[in-house]
Amino acid sequence: MKSLFDLTGKVALVTGASSGIGQRQALALAQAGASVVLLGRRKEQLNSAVAEIEAFGGKAAPLAVDLSDREQLAEVANLAADQFGSVDILINAAGVNLRQPVEEITLQSWDETLNLNLAVPFFLARELVPAMQAKAWGRIINIASLQSSRAFANGLVYGASKGGIAQLTRAMAEAWSVKGINSNAIAPGFFPTGLTAPVYQNPDMLDKLSKQTAIGRNGELSDLDGITVFLASTASNYITGQIIHVDGGFTAK
Ligand SMILES: NC(=O)c1ccc[n+]([C@@H]2O[C@H](COP(=O)([O-])OP(=O)(O)OC[C@H]3O[C@@H](n4cnc5c(N)ncnc54)[C@H](OP(=O)(O)O)[C@@H]3O)[C@@H](O)[C@H]2O)c1
Repeated sequence: MKSLFDLTGKVALVTGASSGIGQRQALALAQAGASVVLLGRRKEQLNSAVAEIEAFGGKAAPLAVDLSDREQLAEVANLAADQFGSVDILINAAGVNLRQPVEEITLQSWDETLNLNLAVPFFLARELVPAMQAKAWGRIINIASLQSSRAFANGLVYGASKGGIAQLTRAMAEAWSVKGINSNAIAPGFFPTGLTAPVYQNPDMLDKLSKQTAIGRNGELSDLDGITVFLASTASNYITGQIIHVDGGFTAK
């Protein structure tokens, strides 16, 4: 049974691994035995996460890259593969939420959000698919949101990107599952990260959100460990094109 979740010998690339959800997922994959390339722009944060993984005997390497330049994604894929060999598992966790009222949205803020949250997950995945296909095995894990299916105030652009990532996940599954590459998305509820800092600074809002869950609390990053390892492993062999809510039952109510 343990081998179902064993990632020994697998290579993972996690974007957004310098903080928050992506960093937690990188740790979880490393604990399950994967060699993990941690990608983000902030070198210090990447290096300290790598040190944390190496401290428990895991294998990890930092990759300090700005993903906003789509033209560089082929190079990013090569740099990732240079660390431990070709990538078997991609987690697309890099993301931005600018929280703008509708009137303040600009073409620039639209492009920035849709580029990082939606275009990069596709174009980066497409660079990595040939090597996964050569092994007839791969995993793509996207990060969706409550806003993949719900509209929140000041969330128009972010919601458009996260609605898009849900459908992108299904479309990736349609395109690549037959080659052995499963694509799924995790849709987190509210978790304490830099991205949700504005929410976590508002105790009333936080309390209201926790009461909207069935479990009665907001998320803790460790709540994402199980689903991450499950979706990255052979335990999820026959699951693809799914959006799995990890939200304490928020969307069930
Ligand atoms: N927190 C939640 O409750 C929640 C709920 C639903 C969905 N999500 C999603 O979870 C994902 C992770 O967010 P988070 O909550 O963990 O927030 P976070 O701590 O702010 O993480 C965002 C990550 O994206 C990276 N990033 C941003 N711009 C980048 C760029 N141009 N190039 C490379 N990396 C870039 C950041 O690294 P650098 O700054 O070092 O580049 C950081 O590691 C996002 O897709 C977010 O939409 C979060």
